[in-house]
Amino acid sequence: MSISPPEQKIWFNEPVDKVELLWVGMALVWALIMFAMMPLWHLKGSQNMSNEAYRIHPEAYQAKVDDMVAKFTVGEEGKAKTPVVRPPAGSDVYLLARLWEWYPVLELEQGKSYRLHLSSLDWQHGFSVQPANINLQVHPGIDEVVTITPTTSGDFGIICNEYCGIGHHTMLGKIRVVAAK
Ligand code: CUA
Repeated sequence: MSISPPEQKIWFNEPVDKVELLWVGMALVWALIMFAMMPLWHLKGSQNMSNEAYRIHPEAYQAKVDDMVAKFTVGEEGKAKTPVVRPPAGSDVYLLARLWEWYPVLELEQGKSYRLHLSSLDWQHGFSVQPANINLQVHPGIDEVVTITPTTSGDFGIICNEYCGIGHHTMLGKIRVVAAK
């Protein structure tokens, strides 16, 4: 800490101390390790879900959701009569977040892979699947795609994990995984 101005004003001509070099060296090595961890963890880590993201207008996203709902609805769920949609195995499936619901209920087949699209129609929500350790931010204007292969059948609750206003705590949804026929 310097209280008075330095005696030698042109400090960058001063020789670098060994200890300082050592610190810079250690910091550099650590930075390189952290840098290598990014691709390594992407390939080997079991926490991060790889995703793709695309720009999309909320209305265009809604149209995709509505199209899927119109084609593949098999029932309805709850007081809000949220459609239960069973899209073909291996297809692109769409889930939308809005104040304050996840729409629709997706029925997926165990052991099949899907490209799950997530987007919001208003502002930021948090997609959190219970009890799985999945947690993703959902933004308006961004179509986020994760490839999922459900391995366990049953009902999985979706909660919103980003505070989004007065109804945040009521923002619940569901993904149903059914055993292959
Ligand atoms: Cu949506 Cu909190």
